Amino acid sequence: MQLADIVTERIQRVTQAPKVALHEPRLDGNELAYVRDCVESGWVSSVGSYVDRFERELAAFVGAAHAVVVSNGTSGLHLALQLVGVKPGDEVLVPALSFVATANAVSHCGAHPHFVDSTAATLGLCVESLSSYLGDIAELRDGQCFNRNSGRRLAAVVPMHTFGHPVDMPALQELAARWSLPIVEDAAESLGSWIGERHTGNFGHCAMLSFNGNKIVTTGGGGAIVTNDPTLAKRAKHLTTTAKLPHAWAFQHDEVAYNYRMPNLNAALGCAQLERIDGFLEAKRELTQRYLAAFADVPEVELFVERPGTRANYWLQTLILSPQAAAQRDQILAATNGAGQMTRPVWELLTRLPMYRDCASMPTPVAADLAARIVNLPSSPQLVTDLAA
Ligand SMILES: Cc1ncc(COP(=O)(O)O)c(C=O)c1O
Repeated sequence: MQLADIVTERIQRVTQAPKVALHEPRLDGNELAYVRDCVESGWVSSVGSYVDRFERELAAFVGAAHAVVVSNGTSGLHLALQLVGVKPGDEVLVPALSFVATANAVSHCGAHPHFVDSTAATLGLCVESLSSYLGDIAELRDGQCFNRNSGRRLAAVVPMHTFGHPVDMPALQELAARWSLPIVEDAAESLGSWIGERHTGNFGHCAMLSFNGNKIVTTGGGGAIVTNDPTLAKRAKHLTTTAKLPHAWAFQHDEVAYNYRMPNLNAALGCAQLERIDGFLEAKRELTQRYLAAFADVPEVELFVERPGTRANYWLQTLILSPQAAAQRDQILAATNGAGQMTRPVWELLTRLPMYRDCASMPTPVAADLAARIVNLPSSPQLVTDLAA
């Protein structure tokens, strides 16, 4: 039997369904009731009780002092970068192996992404190779970090917790402190992922979460900035709400800002989804166990599991092909998708996209190797029907 057929058969064994999506939202809790409440009350737009409630409950879940909900994760990351002082002409360190929005948010600031390699240990930014790279190219001037090659300021670093597996944040915090680099976590994929007792998103100045339709919790489209800094949170709210000064009727705005607000309708979905996140997380852990069992005797593949000391949300289940099997990745993708079992490769390296090809980058051999060997598997919590009902 070909490897592609074996993988297809093992996925079918787990999903037990003829046609399965990569990640579908589960909306059969209070979602409809809360959305109906918005419609019936007329509070469908960008203020309302569900916005306040979602911000409160999200902050509590993440263990952060503040959450400011926004229209999507990309706008949240754009604003988060501005909040830590990223200016046009700066460079921002981002992983080469990430969704395009991580780099786009940097570009939206008028700044330049500067790409960093990954580690196979976490699938995220490699702190060790970044450390030696900064030793080669960076210098501190008046307490700020500069790229000696380009002369530009290195204004921030953006670790991204790939598929919900946390980056080694304690090590990154140490490195970032050494180089005076603010940390903005791209936690789009990591709601429900912890390092020790600390939820991802609490290791930097601020973090962004995404509630896109494919995420572990969805608001249809939406995102949040979370932070433990009250000044930053206040400023995030101000800048996402057109910098409008509070007044009973007057339209006074004190700077150029954004309409990045999350509508109450979307926040209503978020409140209902958050009520069920513990069940989603439990179902995803069980799904991991089932995939582990199904692939246990297939030596060409390995299911990526959480690292010691971390608790991953297993947002997307991830198969890593052995170096010898990498050449069969596209056959596997064709066979599984052809059989109705939706699988996906990881993103094209950002350094290979036309708009980012000429950006500064450290060598990214690990990211390139991982990109050739990752296959994401069907991951919806409802695949574990007996648990997620
Ligand atoms: C790593 C990463 N960053 C950023 C985003 C952007 O979030 P959004 O789609 O909510 O704009 C996503 C997801 O879509 C993502 O996976």
